[in-house]
Amino acid sequence: MDVYGLLGNPVGHSLSPSMHEAAYRELGMDARYVIFEPEAESLRAALQGASALGIKGLNVTIPFKQEVLTMVELDELADRIGAVNTIDLTGDRPTGHNTDAVGARRALTDHAVDVDGARAVVVGAGGAARAIAFVLADAGATIHIANRTKERAEELATAVPKSTGHGLGDLPELLENADVLINATSVGMEEDESPVPAGALNRHLTVMDIVYRPLETRLLRDAEEAGAATIDGAWMLLYQGVAALERWTGQDAPVEAMNETLRAELAGESGAFK
Ligand code: ATR
Repeated sequence: MDVYGLLGNPVGHSLSPSMHEAAYRELGMDARYVIFEPEAESLRAALQGASALGIKGLNVTIPFKQEVLTMVELDELADRIGAVNTIDLTGDRPTGHNTDAVGARRALTDHAVDVDGARAVVVGAGGAARAIAFVLADAGATIHIANRTKERAEELATAVPKSTGHGLGDLPELLENADVLINATSVGMEEDESPVPAGALNRHLTVMDIVYRPLETRLLRDAEEAGAATIDGAWMLLYQGVAALERWTGQDAPVEAMNETLRAELAGESGAFK
């Protein structure tokens, strides 16, 4: 039996085990996906142990996405982003990758968004925004980063090619000519709030949210009302998992089975805000 897993502490209720195990069933793999919650000081030992035990791959979540940077061989994108969410243990040495970034791009392209040449507005300047901004820049987009703390947006913009940094106050103007808007903050998860004024949205936009609890965020509802196309947060979650699974197994992921399981799990969760 092959073992994969998720490293974080605390992990909380993760959708990854059911999503990945749905894929294993579909592919006829004898495999399990397990949650591991090591103490921060044991992280290096945990990774070495995982390798020694023949664990094939690990996803990494809060608070370890930066900590593991020094413990694995980084691919170029993960190195530039400065965060790892996927570790491949199938080779001679553990390698670190960022499938959050790849997942965001694939969520967009799978919804017929032509990222090359697009004008993208990214809200946020934390780890998620950083991953998304780099991967969109690689794909040929022009990026405007808008953040509550303007200085963080400006700092991120100095690192990302073809990008500018702004405060949230610039959003109405930035969105007038934008093609894509991505919320890369956690706003909308705890409360029924949006980081973007509803009046700044328009029908020419595609609006993507990284928040998936709830799936229907205030931002996405406002976007629908404005006539914009929407991409909910489960798509990025799905495609980061797809990219991780494909890296670990070398097989095409059964995207539909993974998506169905993910959405069934999310639909089964009670209460909009948790
Ligand atoms: P992550 O790594 O998950 O992206 P993070 O580094 O804590 O998390 O970043 C969170 C992002 O959400 C930041 O861009 C943050 O804005 P600040 O840089 O000004 O802190 C943004 N954010 C969090 N709460 C917010 C709120 N209530 N309104 C607007 N932006 C918010």
